[in-house]
Amino acid sequence: MKNALITGITGQDGSYLAELLLEKGYNVYGIMRRKSEVTYGNVEHIKEKIHFIYADMTDPISLISAMKISQPDEVYNLAAQSFVATSWDTPLGTADIDALGVTNMLEAIRIVKPEARFYQASTSEMFGLVQAIPQSETTPFYPRSPYGVAKLYGHWITKNYRESYNMYACSGILFNHESERRGKEFVTRKITDAVSRIKQNVQDHIELGNMDAKRDWGHSKDYVNAMWLMLQQETPDDYVIATNETRTVREFVEIAFRCVDIEVEWSGEGINEIGKDKATGKEIVKINPQFFRPAEVEILIGDPAKADTNLGWEREIPFAELVERMVKNDMKLVAKEIKAANL
Ligand code: NAP
Ligand code: GDD
Repeated sequence: MKNALITGITGQDGSYLAELLLEKGYNVYGIMRRKSEVTYGNVEHIKEKIHFIYADMTDPISLISAMKISQPDEVYNLAAQSFVATSWDTPLGTADIDALGVTNMLEAIRIVKPEARFYQASTSEMFGLVQAIPQSETTPFYPRSPYGVAKLYGHWITKNYRESYNMYACSGILFNHESERRGKEFVTRKITDAVSRIKQNVQDHIELGNMDAKRDWGHSKDYVNAMWLMLQQETPDDYVIATNETRTVREFVEIAFRCVDIEVEWSGEGINEIGKDKATGKEIVKINPQFFRPAEVEILIGDPAKADTNLGWEREIPFAELVERMVKNDMKLVAKEIKAANL
């Protein structure tokens, strides 16, 4: 039986990865931050099966302890301040966790169990102002946010430890992946939650920022499988994980509303753009400049050919199903909320 240590286990990816590793018979250890109220986030439903260790990416001693307790064969470093917009508000905190935190984890591995295999959660955000379309492992990086810059450090330090110490250390350059467990501040979940509230008459409209931004969106469940595959190879390497499809935020909005039989009709431009419910004429989508970013990543579309060839990785959940699953789930959650409020 293998031991795995997951940082960021309470997050979206941490939860799907924990489920996958439990299914495969791993002993799963997860690091968790102390909060004023004990909550298990996305792993509430499997908390009895996980060995939790209190630690923090900014506290190297706690990571050394986590390594000693868990004695992992595989370490998945998913912990991060992962919301790009907030990285302008907390640039140093983001760097502490997303950049230096990676070195803290790598050093803890080197000290306690250097033969442990290491996965780093790198990101398509590192491509930023893209230098090629589509983006692959050989595309030069040009990050556009404090988050992207911090993650680029994490990416290179992982490669450096592989080359300096011959460690089995890989980075997955993952493009956007979403799910029913996505945090509500990210645009996809913000949209599917709002669509469900608008449909059930508990919200009038949604306010969004840049509707022209294009993203390559997949489902988290498929992407955690790629993480695992990367650590099962003979030699460590870095891989792009993506769907090779891209859509605007506006298209996501249209498809999500269509899941509840609402057709959006657009008018106006820029900050005056408005989306109306074609059947009722009600304004259901508005622009709020508050959600624009100081620097934007306009287009992401990844080429996963290397992962396909070397890992045999393929995504299983197509885009339309991703949106449908998210909307269905939020429709249920909102209905439950309404029922509870009426009781
Ligand atoms: P997420 O839902 O925001 O989860 C982040 C996790 O990190 C949470 O468990 C959080 O714990 C933990 N964390 C934050 N700061 C920490 C600290 N100082 N010490 C210990 N734990 C800390 O993110 P996700 O979507 O699952 O993404 C997982 C990883 O993949 C992240 O590194 C992200 O940057 C990267 N990534 C994500 C995507 C994507 O599209 N989802 C794409 C590329 C890369 P709390 O519960 O205590 O907050
Ligand atoms: N969050 C948000 N809220 N984004 C909006 C909004 C809004 O109201 N309106 C438009 N957008 C646009 C953003 O400007 C961005 O271009 C796009 O929607 C996606 O935003 P997010 O869903 O917040 O994700 P992200 O692409 O910035 O970052 C995610 O993907 C990265 C991989 O490329 C995160 O998961 C990162 O952690 C991850 O590394």
